[in-house]
Amino acid sequence: MSEWPIYRGTGAPDRARVELLPPPPRWRRFDGVPLGEDEYRVPDIDSASSRRLGDRPPLPIQDPRAIELINAALYLRRPLLVTGEPGSGKSTLAHALAHELQLGRVLQWPVVSRTELKSGLYTYDAIGRLQDAQLDRAGTQDTEQSHGRDLSIGRYIRLGPLGTALLPLERPRVLLIDELDKSDIDLPNDLLNVVEEGEFGIPELERIADRPGGRTVGVLTDDGLRAPVAGGRVRCRAFPVIVMTSNGEREFPAPLLRRCIHLHLDPPRGDRLAAMVQAHFGDGADQEHRDLVELFTTDGAGTARPTDQLLNAIFLTQQVAPPDSPGRAELARLLMGSPDSGQR
Ligand SMILES: Nc1ncnc2c1ncn2[C@@H]1O[C@H](COP(=O)(O)OP(=O)(O)OP(=O)(O)O)[C@@H](O)[C@H]1O
Ligand SMILES: [Mg+2]
Repeated sequence: MSEWPIYRGTGAPDRARVELLPPPPRWRRFDGVPLGEDEYRVPDIDSASSRRLGDRPPLPIQDPRAIELINAALYLRRPLLVTGEPGSGKSTLAHALAHELQLGRVLQWPVVSRTELKSGLYTYDAIGRLQDAQLDRAGTQDTEQSHGRDLSIGRYIRLGPLGTALLPLERPRVLLIDELDKSDIDLPNDLLNVVEEGEFGIPELERIADRPGGRTVGVLTDDGLRAPVAGGRVRCRAFPVIVMTSNGEREFPAPLLRRCIHLHLDPPRGDRLAAMVQAHFGDGADQEHRDLVELFTTDGAGTARPTDQLLNAIFLTQQVAPPDSPGRAELARLLMGSPDSGQR
């Protein structure tokens, strides 16, 4: 029997837990040749995560159903599709996973209507390369100019967040595909293929793979580092922990839904909300500011407010209207917006 659950949602970092995951099911095994630590060193978790998580773990207690679904996605090597009201903690979940399982910097891919699959995989700056080549040629005529610029193709190829997440590593990366419902109609379908196969090709490199020195090319990654790509294909090893978020602005195609684990996050209340407040403002902060927490959860009951509004209200009142000072409730109400004022 394996160690279930691997992710416990306690916020206590434990680097060894992910190694306790049983092997993937046969149909989710990927065989990219793993890069050694000397070939690619995943950067540590960065301030993008600590900004969202606060700096006082343990993190909010998650509901047991959420923990089960998150672990199901980890065991099955399937993406998590997270839905829920604005501010319910969907995007932050990716950071919580990376923090607790110690999986390094979170790769973030924010989706807008113009986002195409290719930008998530890689970009090739052909114009930049051409310009550098021209400058170099000019340099050869004018001896004052520096020449001998490194024009190798890998310097002009940069893997996007999805491309970087698929590098063959023994420990999975965490990839946040944020607000997938904002995408153009084709993106979810295009994504499906890559997520199924766990690999993609870079035609610019595939074309030169049989030339001398073209077999393995160092390219830039979303982490700002260089990684070797062999034969022009990126093929994953440990399937990344993919968190796709959606505010439910539109439906996704059934084949995508079938290949994801769907988790709906309820707006944080009770212990979970208290823990979030403490994560950002320190132990006991939920008690110190219970008037605001109460206002947030009960004023205009039935309408969920984004948690950010409560955090903003606590921060500001801490500065200018501490507990029991006049005008505190009015200021908080103003920030949190009356649910019927449309200011949400
Ligand atoms: N696990 C957590 N620990 C500490 N703070 C958290 C946690 N989860 C969420 N928060 C806080 O709650 C707020 C809302 O979270 P988040 O932005 O992840 O919500 P969301 O569901 O992605 O919202 P939106 O739909 O607007 O993108 C953030 O300010 C974040 O810092
Ligand atoms: Mg979000």
